[in-house]
This record gives sequence, structure tokens and C-alpha cells, in this order.
Amino acid sequence: LYESTLSDLKDKIKSYPDFPKEGIVFRDIFSVLRDPACLRNILDLMVAKIELLKWTDVDVVVGLESRGFILAPLLAVKLNAGFVPVRKKGRLPGVCKEIAYTLEYRSDVLEIQQDSVHQGQRVLIIDDLIATGGSLGATCKLLSGLNANVVGCLVLLELEQLHGSKNVEAPVESLITF
Ligand code: PRP
Ligand code: ADE
Ligand code: MG
Repeated sequence: LYESTLSDLKDKIKSYPDFPKEGIVFRDIFSVLRDPACLRNILDLMVAKIELLKWTDVDVVVGLESRGFILAPLLAVKLNAGFVPVRKKGRLPGVCKEIAYTLEYRSDVLEIQQDSVHQGQRVLIIDDLIATGGSLGATCKLLSGLNANVVGCLVLLELEQLHGSKNVEAPVESLITF
């Protein structure tokens, strides 16, 4: 049942060659999120994985702008945790820590509010997808800078050939690999 649900989800993810740049095959999570049963299955499977990995008892679920903002708060509610955003530069008020990074098709700067996570808090990081691992790697570094305890990163999709988890200091798990 578990495997058939995952392969059904994988089949429903639409791929767009040469978007947003030539040579990139864009995997569009919105093609499954719009289906109510798929959305519920994704959340249930992510929670089951978190429980299996014993990544429970987290204080905070961190989500990456923009697509990480969809799944992270939904999971935070299920885990009785808070939600903290990591945003692209210039959008968060107050004292922030920033880090420059490179992803599969762009470079950018990410920020986190300095007072959003406290020393020793257990943190789970959520995003839609790992490609090169640039985004998740940079997010882990931001959280290390706040002395947080990152238990792991969970994504819906992993682009296996890019070996992105090598660029992330915390363990990375995914539901579906391409
Ligand atoms: C996309 C995706 C991941 C990241 C993965 O974000 O949502 O966050 O790229 O790539 P990487 O593993 O090579 O870092 P992007 O910032 O492009 O767009 P978004 O604002 O729609 O999330
Ligand atoms: N973010 C980075 N690489 C991506 C890809 N191939 N598809 C969708 N989102 C991405
Ligand atoms: Mg993103």
C-alpha cells in the first residue's frame, strides 16, 4: 500500500524540460498538491517517515521560502511544533543571519531571524525538493550558527544524480527519488 501510494505520487509529478533554463528538468510538486487525496497522502507519508526516523519531539519545523512554506507549517501542526521561515534576503525584519548559496539554476542569499530558534532546540527542516543541496546545506549552516540541533531534513523529492545530500551537514531523507 505504502509503495503503491508512493509510485502513484511519483507518476503524477509532471516534468518540464528546459524550465526555468535550458538543460534543467523541472519537477513540479504543484501537479500533485492540487489533488486532495495526494496532498493528504503526502502529509501522512511524511509524518510516518518522521516517526520511523524518530525525528519527533522537535521544537521547530523550519521551512524554506517559497515551496518549503507549503509543507512545513502543515507538518508543524501535526508534530505540535512551531514554524520558522528561512527567507530570501531582505524580507525578514529585525536582526537576521544571512548566507549566500547556489542552487541548481541560480545563486541567492537566505536569511533567518536571529531570535527565531534558540540554542539546543530540536529542529526539523522541510523543503519540497533537494537538487544540488545548496539550499538545504545553507539552511543547516544558518541553524548551526544559532546553535540549534538539526535532527534532519525531509523533502518530498530527491534528484538522485545530483548527490545533493553530500552538501548538507544533517541527514537528508526523501519520499520520492528521480
Ligand atoms: C527550489 C526548490 C528547493 C531548491 C532545491 O527553490 O524549491 O528549495 O530549489 O535546489 P538545490 O538543492 O539545488 O538548492 P527555488 O528557490 O528555486 O524556488 P522557490 O522559491 O519556488 O522555492
Ligand atoms: N529546484 C532545483 N532544481 C529543481 C528542479 N529540477 N525541479 C524543480 N525544482 C527545482
Ligand atoms: Mg525552494
